[in-house]
Amino acid sequence: MNNKQTPWDYRYAQRTQRMKGSAIRELLKITEQPDIISFGGGLPAPDLFPLEEFKRACIYVLDHEGEKALQYGSTEGYKPLREMISRHTNRLGINVNVDNILITSGSQQALDLLGKIFINRGDRILVESPTYLGALQAWNAYGAEYVTVPMDEHGMITEYLEEALRTGPKFIYALPNFQNPTGSTLGLERRKQLVALAEQYGVPIIEDDPYGQLRYEGEDLPGINLLDSQTRVKNGSYTGNVIYLSTFSKILAPGIRLAWVIAPDTVIRKMTLAKQGTDLHTSTFNQIIAHEVSQHGFLDRHVKVIQETYRIRRDVMLESLEEHMPDGVSWTHPEGGLFLWATLPEQLNTTELMPDAIREKVAYVSGEAFHPNGGGTNTMRLNFSCMKPDKINEGIQRLGRVFKTKLME
Ligand SMILES: Cc1ncc(COP(=O)(O)O)c(C=O)c1O
Repeated sequence: MNNKQTPWDYRYAQRTQRMKGSAIRELLKITEQPDIISFGGGLPAPDLFPLEEFKRACIYVLDHEGEKALQYGSTEGYKPLREMISRHTNRLGINVNVDNILITSGSQQALDLLGKIFINRGDRILVESPTYLGALQAWNAYGAEYVTVPMDEHGMITEYLEEALRTGPKFIYALPNFQNPTGSTLGLERRKQLVALAEQYGVPIIEDDPYGQLRYEGEDLPGINLLDSQTRVKNGSYTGNVIYLSTFSKILAPGIRLAWVIAPDTVIRKMTLAKQGTDLHTSTFNQIIAHEVSQHGFLDRHVKVIQETYRIRRDVMLESLEEHMPDGVSWTHPEGGLFLWATLPEQLNTTELMPDAIREKVAYVSGEAFHPNGGGTNTMRLNFSCMKPDKINEGIQRLGRVFKTKLME
């Protein structure tokens, strides 16, 4: 045994063989260098974090509910927070109560718990291609295989859905609003087709919606869970075909690791058991603080500030792309969210181009990793929420130079 080896080396479970480091997390390390303009991460703008409100809430909560806030709590989550989410969901027209709601330590944990309770080795999961990398990371560990449905500007192309459903997937994973990574939004007709085909084939849907409240133009579209619940008889508690995920990460702050799941109460009970084995419960302190910060309409007002800021940043990125990209490069026009998706001429490989980009002090995420069954080598995800406008313009100019140089070789 050399001194790098340990007795653990040959004892890892089989499931670790499919665990790969996230390209994005690796990239974040490089882009911590201050002179790099990074469009790589999916970070909310730190300049918008409501520091004063958090400070006030911390003092108030410690003064008034300190003992409760620092104690163990229930696995399902802090009841007033679940009641708040239940009221918000009812306002959207979906009939739920607190038994339909589980608080998780980020939606990422919800994805993992769903893998834990639903995925057997070799199960097929129907995903959009490209799709959210974090879901693939969570589910790879449980031995998931993927059947993919391609995307365009209007989300999952539902004409291909039926063929994919015939392969017998365990569930569908859909990101209807301002999808990570493409920024595309699923159109209304396609939403209806998705709900109808899922019902016809008896395949349930996981709707992952971290960005739904961050719309910068156009009309809100009904969620998959709303469309699904409209097809069912209301009996006081949600019994639909959809497990819905959303999070405080993009509307408040990701560092508090707070998110929620809405599902039939039987699913919530199973997830609760799974969560007990994972972390007992989500931080009581963070839940009570988030609840306190959200009082008196603050959250609604804060979301408006975020929308306004990100809309400007998105527009700057779209204008800069128009100005600096060479012919043959195209990109999506997201109506909300944090990302847009660029497609380069076929001969360019965005993974191979990354060192050139880093030399120019600019970074992005190559699109390949978001395609579970391969493809997308000439695509990339660009984040517009985290940089101030002048940096966005400068960064896109640098990227344009990298691509132009490559195309001239
Ligand atoms: C589609 C999607 N799902 C889940 C997550 C995880 O969010 P959270 O911070 O709540 O864990 C993200 C984060 O970027 C995301 O984009």
